[in-house]
Amino acid sequence: MTTKPGEKKSRFDPEPMPRRDFLGLAALGSMAAAFALSIFGMLKLPKAAVSASPAKKFNVTIPENLAEGDAFTPPGRNVAVFRDAEGVYAISTVCTHLGCIVKTSAAGFDCPCHGSGFQKDGTVRKGPAPIPLPWLKVSKNGGTITIDEESKVKTGTKV
Ligand code: FES
Repeated sequence: MTTKPGEKKSRFDPEPMPRRDFLGLAALGSMAAAFALSIFGMLKLPKAAVSASPAKKFNVTIPENLAEGDAFTPPGRNVAVFRDAEGVYAISTVCTHLGCIVKTSAAGFDCPCHGSGFQKDGTVRKGPAPIPLPWLKVSKNGGTITIDEESKVKTGTKV
């Protein structure tokens, strides 16, 4: 309904909004809604389920009844610790192919991912692993054994 010149406008019959103004307001409103939703979405993102990695140098107590040639794997560590007449040594259980964790077996170590096999001293028995499992630095502090997962030593190094 349009008003004639000189006629008083009713507050229930407002002036129609020009199409250009309406579209401008709609675009502005859409942008504001998109911005608000994106902020809300960012706030609702789950927190990363990442825990701090444990220290790479750690102490272990080897079980008294650990038989020669048997592996002891400290809980939560990717290391196999052995004891024999010549001393104590540690071999990494991280496969040198693509990093899966190898399992100890009668033959040494077997990788469940792509079938690599390693001798008890970590040398490759079966590929595709390209290099042996590394031996890790072990030091004795009284009755405690300290293993440094970041320090590799020459194969055969025992303390
Ligand atoms: S990761 Fe061990 S064989 Fe591939």
